[in-house]
Amino acid sequence: MPGRPLQVISPAPFDQMMSPSSQSVLFFFLGGIIMFMIMLILALVFWRVIKPADLKKLVKQARRRPANTDFFSGNLRTISLFDFQTLKRATKNFDPSNLLGRGGFGPVFRGKLDDGRMIAVKKLSLNKSQQGEPEFLAEVRMITSIQHKNLVRLLGCCSDGPQRLLVYEYLKNRSLDLIIYGKNDHFLNWSTRYQIIIGVARGLQYLHQDSPLRIIHRDIKASNILLDDKFQPRIGDFGLARFFPEDEAYLSTTFAGTLGYSAPEYAIRGELSEKADIYSFGVLVIEIISCRRNTDLNLPSEMQYLPEYAWKLYEKSKVLDLIDPRMREDGFLEKDVLQAIHVAFLCLQPDPDLRPPMSHIVTMLTSSADMFGAPVKPAFLDRKRNRDENPSCDTISEPFPSPLQSDSSSLPKQPN
Ligand SMILES: *[C@@H]1O[C@H](CO)[C@@H](O)[C@H](O)[C@H]1NC(C)=O
Ligand SMILES: *[C@@H]1O[C@H](CO)[C@@H](O)[C@H](O)[C@H]1NC(C)=O
Ligand SMILES: *[C@@H]1O[C@H](CO)[C@@H](O)[C@H](O)[C@H]1NC(C)=O
Repeated sequence: MPGRPLQVISPAPFDQMMSPSSQSVLFFFLGGIIMFMIMLILALVFWRVIKPADLKKLVKQARRRPANTDFFSGNLRTISLFDFQTLKRATKNFDPSNLLGRGGFGPVFRGKLDDGRMIAVKKLSLNKSQQGEPEFLAEVRMITSIQHKNLVRLLGCCSDGPQRLLVYEYLKNRSLDLIIYGKNDHFLNWSTRYQIIIGVARGLQYLHQDSPLRIIHRDIKASNILLDDKFQPRIGDFGLARFFPEDEAYLSTTFAGTLGYSAPEYAIRGELSEKADIYSFGVLVIEIISCRRNTDLNLPSEMQYLPEYAWKLYEKSKVLDLIDPRMREDGFLEKDVLQAIHVAFLCLQPDPDLRPPMSHIVTMLTSSADMFGAPVKPAFLDRKRNRDENPSCDTISEPFPSPLQSDSSSLPKQPN
């Protein structure tokens, strides 16, 4: 035992009792014993504090971590699986104070991971019975492969029991609706607004024409345009319709209260093509320029429906009245704003075939040449009753005749 030899050597000085070689043997012997005891104690402590189950978990986490740290690597085919407990902790158990928004596909919560990174977690309003895990992961993999600087990054997902969650990057300036609908006093000057318009146009062009999958967004609206710290726009929620059975995606989009953005042929007959997104983009552009909602029943009746009001002003050659008064004070290039309004009218054409494809829109917005013809009168949906709960297409301007006036509750089903 370690104590004994010390007692023995106490009467005489240590170096007189033993030869140098036996001293070093004793030294190694004692050292070995002490090391062994320390190891034994450590092992006991470790065993007590960290139970075997936890060890298994640690190993599992360590295996998972490489995927999680892969976030920003841009590897198109890897998807990160998040642990439900991690997301629960990050969002403080999905606390209402962290609610960022409630889209047609489910609520979104702000979250902070243990390493300090901010994320946005979308809880899909889906049931397990509707989609199994392999299908879900396959869809997530597809969406992860769609990457563009004007599209929100999908970082990963989580599938836990019946829950399906998507994890996105968090954007500092949240969404465009908070700014242009005046809940927030932040003013955007014309160059920032133009940057947002062109960014959204480029994002849509990518979705429609350049991405590996042809994606129709279906729900372009101000609350789906997210802004980073430099007010660069990123389109959110693209591709989510893939998770839902066709008719449900259609319904959730409509009942999310976004009918004001819906192209007439889509809202009325359920005809879906890229041109429906282009119509919504036209509505969005006019909203950005005038800084108001597309439908506002508190305004005098001729101003309630923005595209219709814009067209009336255009016919009277007073379209500059449309512009946000604060922007008028701040100053802008009249020619550029007129060009953007002109492009918006082309997007609102009643005949989908007359609406230019996104690539042309991007060219028109970025070139100075006056290269396009005059728009004809846009098509508008008119929603005088029950605007929120029960969208109905009571009346509509030409060239749509009136079959829809007969019964507002029979919204058409989506084809295919
Ligand atoms: C999911 O299932 C639960 C009960 O099983 C039901 O109450 C809920 O409405 C379902 N949600 C959706 C989105 O279908
Ligand atoms: C517009 O605002 C942005 C930031 O909000 C600023 O960086 C830019 O200089 C402004 N542009 C003009 C022309 O005032
Ligand atoms: C936008 O982001 C910047 C940078 O984080 C921040 O300073 C600014 O307050 C944000 N603006 C709004 C309106 O949230």
